[in-house]
Amino acid sequence: MKEYTDYSLLNHNTFGMDVKAKHYVEYDSEEELKTIVSTLCGKVLHIGGGSNLLFKGDFEGTVLHSAIRGIEVVEEKTDDVLVRVGAGEVWDDFVDWAVSNGYGGVENLSLIPGEVGASAVQNIGAYGVEAKDVIALVEAIELQSGQKRVFGTEECDYSYRQSIFKNQLKGKYAITFVTYRLQKQPTLKLEYGNIKAVLGDKENLTISDVRQAIIDIRNAKLPDPKVLGNAGSFFMNPVVSREKFLSVQKDYPQMPFYEVEGGVKIPAGWMIDQCGWKGKALGRAAVHDKQALVLVNLGGATSDEIVTLCDTICKDVKEKFGIDIHPEVNLI
Ligand code: EPU
Repeated sequence: MKEYTDYSLLNHNTFGMDVKAKHYVEYDSEEELKTIVSTLCGKVLHIGGGSNLLFKGDFEGTVLHSAIRGIEVVEEKTDDVLVRVGAGEVWDDFVDWAVSNGYGGVENLSLIPGEVGASAVQNIGAYGVEAKDVIALVEAIELQSGQKRVFGTEECDYSYRQSIFKNQLKGKYAITFVTYRLQKQPTLKLEYGNIKAVLGDKENLTISDVRQAIIDIRNAKLPDPKVLGNAGSFFMNPVVSREKFLSVQKDYPQMPFYEVEGGVKIPAGWMIDQCGWKGKALGRAAVHDKQALVLVNLGGATSDEIVTLCDTICKDVKEKFGIDIHPEVNLI
């Protein structure tokens, strides 16, 4: 266990905000976490890799971070395996492990920043796959009581970028292990965007080829947080009613869209791009020049500058399209 007071969070948020936590505790096991929760008082924030956060200032409470590690096959059947992974494992290390062992299901989620615990909170998703498609179980400790609870996937209320851990149970549980169901004879998912184009006419494709294609696509579009502070997609893609979609489509027939349950999803990045924001800056906060959904810290940006840019973009999108967009990033 590691414990610090007035601890700099600079290396714990990919936006590169130089803020401090009053207390910072990193634990290595469920037993350590249970001991810590009995002593907690005041505000508590559990972080993962800090890749989906924007700190608006110092955190006057306790920041918890899991260092629970381990990737273990706990059950093997004819077609699939159950793999139990510590919440503190780096997500892409787990994807790399799965692909290296020939287990399919997470290769489309290659290179998503963050840790395994957060994959179950955020229901991370990319290139036609979401974490919920492969999550079998989520183990968690209730912060108030120290009691353990195991959630089946259906109890997690998963939907696009949403889960029970972000809504009804927000801040109430710390995830300790996630068990994923992976395929031994993987079915490749190549329908989204330009995956097929990037793979070219290569034959006998493997999950390793898919992982490499996703890595290439992401590297071409998304900024490396080590070079340019950012938290991935800053906004969620809004889902609008069919009527609203048809009325906007009349004016913008080239607008990309995806039919989803409950309506039509419109890419926020496309709308922000149409508003002329791509590559533009307000102070030291900017819209990434290759993907308008991503806001970046050009160096030394304050959280106020990023929030002002976010608010201005939301206002412009609303004015042009009559559609509300909302941050995906958690503002703390
Ligand atoms: N588009 C533009 N201009 C832009 C950005 C996008 O015209 O600046 C258009 C694209 O041409 C495409 C459509 O919008 O027609 C969708 O773009 P893209 O495929 O890049 O995906 P996205 O909807 O912008 C989502 C996820 C990403 C994920 C990609 C690929 C959210 C909030 N974001 O972005 O997730 O990598 O799909 O699956 O759903 C993240 O969460 O950090 C993240 C990067």
